[in-house]
Amino acid sequence: MTTKTEIDQAVSILNNGGLVAFPTETVYGLGADAQNPSALEKVFTVKNRPFTNPLIVHIVNLEAMVDWAFNIPADAIALAKAFWPGPLTLILKKKPHVDNILTGGQETVALRVPAHPVATQLLTQFGRGVAAPSANKFTRISPTTADAVRAELGNDIDSILDGGNCEVGLESTIVDVSQEKVQILRPGMITIKEIEHVLNRQVVINGSTPLRVPGRHHLHYAPKTQTNLIESAMLQSVLDNVQSASIALVYSEVRIENPNLQVHRMPRDARAYAKILYETLRASDQKNYAAIYVENVPVTSEWTAIHDRLKKASARSR
Ligand code: TXA
Ligand code: MG
Repeated sequence: MTTKTEIDQAVSILNNGGLVAFPTETVYGLGADAQNPSALEKVFTVKNRPFTNPLIVHIVNLEAMVDWAFNIPADAIALAKAFWPGPLTLILKKKPHVDNILTGGQETVALRVPAHPVATQLLTQFGRGVAAPSANKFTRISPTTADAVRAELGNDIDSILDGGNCEVGLESTIVDVSQEKVQILRPGMITIKEIEHVLNRQVVINGSTPLRVPGRHHLHYAPKTQTNLIESAMLQSVLDNVQSASIALVYSEVRIENPNLQVHRMPRDARAYAKILYETLRASDQKNYAAIYVENVPVTSEWTAIHDRLKKASARSR
């Protein structure tokens, strides 16, 4: 776990324009001073991320919203009060001073108050906003452990704060409240139902939008190993016929006796599933299997974000 000295060091790295990976409750972030353009540039370089893909500013509490956003609608306040600190990112109209490199040149800024105690300590002590994308190379799986960050970016960053395994395991729900129509741009473990409940009306997921939508890139969240998403009804027949050494991530109670297959049982509960999904994919990816087979998940709202990431992980194979 993280000591006071490590936080002190991390704060001074941020103050000097360096990069610090830190835990959040969703995934690990690659943090930089959100008001230092050259530090922000480094984030893009280290990740190989295109400059058109904007960053989330992590802030310490709801009150800090006004440092970054203006014309904050009542819906935004309601969602912030309901879910912050937590796995929710709000897209709001940006204040003029907000750097273009943060926003990809758009008129909006993404804000989030993370819930992990190490993130809270870092933000409190730093005293300003920390821009942080997930701490992985562009298009790769987000890290949910400090070891995964080290494997992904270790030599390129100044410090990694270890906060253990991320509790949520998938990236935050992104909600655009900058326009009349509230839209979910990226599903996360805060579900559309929960958001509609707070706002007391319907919202849309991923409608057509002029904004750059996160995770739309073809190979987002993809393992290197070919990854196939299989409907439960097809599972038995597909897995029985696998010819080369592969792994299957399944939650149904199928019996598989194919010697070519390593079967990994996944949780039947969406939260438990989300928490271990990226680590399971990452570990599977390291074993040089010919393929990863993943049983598709239910269509109910608590599985929406998981389904979204599985579709992206298997995009290359479809
Ligand atoms: O859970 C999370 O959100 C994690 C942790 C570290 O907070 N962060 C994360 O960041 O997933 P990243 O950069 O991997 O994904 C953030 C997404 C980007 O794909 C970007 O397109 C979108 O947020 N985004 C940022 N600013 C935006 C804006 N102004 N309008 C639309 N999308 C925006
Ligand atoms: Mg990311």
